[in-house]
Amino acid sequence: MMDMPRWLLVAISVLVLAWPASCADPVLFPVAKDAATSLYTIPIRDGANHVIDLAGPLLWSTCAADHLPAKFTCQDKECKLAATAYRPPSCHVGGQQCTQQQQRCAAYPYNPVTRRCAAARLAHTRLVANTTDGANPLRQVSVRAVAACAPRKLLARLPRDAAGVAGLAASGLALPAQVAASQRVAGKFLLCLPRNAGGEGVAIFGGGPLFLMTSTAPPVEVASDFTSSLTYTPLVSRRGSSSYYLPVTAIAVDTVQVSLPKDALAGGVVLGTTAAYTELRPDVYGPVVGAFDRTLRRSWNNTKRVAAVAPFELCYDSKTLPGPTRIGWLVPEIVLVLEGGRKTNWTFGGLNTMVDVNGFTAACFGFVKMKPEKNGGYGGKPAVVLGGFQMEDHVLHFDLEKRRLGFARLPVFTSCSNFNFTRKG
Ligand SMILES: *[C@@H]1O[C@H](CO)[C@@H](O)[C@H](O)[C@H]1NC(C)=O
Ligand SMILES: *[C@@H]1O[C@H](CO)[C@@H](O)[C@H](O)[C@H]1NC(C)=O
Ligand SMILES: *[C@@H]1O[C@H](CO)[C@@H](O)[C@H](O)[C@H]1NC(C)=O
Ligand SMILES: *[C@@H]1O[C@H](CO)[C@@H](O)[C@H](O)[C@H]1NC(C)=O
Repeated sequence: MMDMPRWLLVAISVLVLAWPASCADPVLFPVAKDAATSLYTIPIRDGANHVIDLAGPLLWSTCAADHLPAKFTCQDKECKLAATAYRPPSCHVGGQQCTQQQQRCAAYPYNPVTRRCAAARLAHTRLVANTTDGANPLRQVSVRAVAACAPRKLLARLPRDAAGVAGLAASGLALPAQVAASQRVAGKFLLCLPRNAGGEGVAIFGGGPLFLMTSTAPPVEVASDFTSSLTYTPLVSRRGSSSYYLPVTAIAVDTVQVSLPKDALAGGVVLGTTAAYTELRPDVYGPVVGAFDRTLRRSWNNTKRVAAVAPFELCYDSKTLPGPTRIGWLVPEIVLVLEGGRKTNWTFGGLNTMVDVNGFTAACFGFVKMKPEKNGGYGGKPAVVLGGFQMEDHVLHFDLEKRRLGFARLPVFTSCSNFNFTRKG
């Protein structure tokens, strides 16, 4: 090989060093679980917590001094996005979308717990976070973003320290798209939801890798990237919604498909971080709960039911259940059978299906019956809302560019609360 002049080498290294500006490091947020509400939050502005909502199309906050005076024209991209952002059918507030004279642009923030919405206006804001190499925080960054400025009363029933909601849906004004646009990172994000209110999980915008430490004392850094062994499924979109739907064709208990009413799954299976436990519409709930109980008794015939512990119905005396083991109670697995591309299954074992209650004397099947709309019906409701408890201690990799989701449960020697939040250097 020819010897390169030294100046050329220097020029090349300068170019290489300058390059990362266009493919910047991913952006990291710690994820907390609120003990009172079981909602997950991230601190995005001066440590002000925002509830994460996988189905939320917007970022919204109560107005704060750091919201810059918003000057939008009706032709601005953000204003147009706000006009087309999904508005739940229950959201009836109206008003003019955009007023050219006042340079105001309307948005309709939504509280996923109370299911109320409000008329609000868009404002510019900045989020403070750290970039990451997937293992540690690197350096602090300030991320430009657009938020809807909501009235305080919209915070009802959110965690006491929450100042708004950070929507993570597949829409232009949700957090993933906004971070991707202003930090020039990939349109991908990782979510690792913590099980315990004391621990901190992680959300990383821009994609992997993800490294965690072991749960041992002292903790040891695990050298392998947890995003390298994910199972992928296509994400399905539904007209008018920016939520993430899974192409589920059947639900199985262990290896046996649950027989559901015809077209029961047509309403879709959607991911929902604001549901503490997976919600099943009653026509799906009955057969799944029945199949679980029958399958458990068939292999473990001395299992004893005990009184229900709200919000669960199916509870067992812990002394009569198989286990516990490091992988939880050895109960039948709940399987979402996924179609699309290569067939895959998302399987939930004891750690994500059984909830210990009454000081570990009982354990309940952690799926709940979906509540009807105010009119008493289920029209337009999904068949399944996959909730937080079932997704905890999983690596979830939302790839918005390829419209697919990578998922895997973490091995038992680590958890989502084992990210090393100490800065390198
Ligand atoms: C960034 O990381 C450092 C080191 O862990 C931490 O002290 C700081 O609070 C982080 N900043 C934000 C905005 O999360
Ligand atoms: C998924 O689960 C179903 C039902 O148990 C089973 O028939 C199928 O073979 C499984 N598919 C894979 C890829 O494991
Ligand atoms: C429970 O299962 C054991 C072992 O399979 C069997 O010996 C026993 O007869 C069963 N008891 C009942 C009540 O079915
Ligand atoms: C966490 O990261 C810091 C900075 O790289 C490192 O010094 C420390 O050893 C790490 N902790 C563990 C338990 O690996």
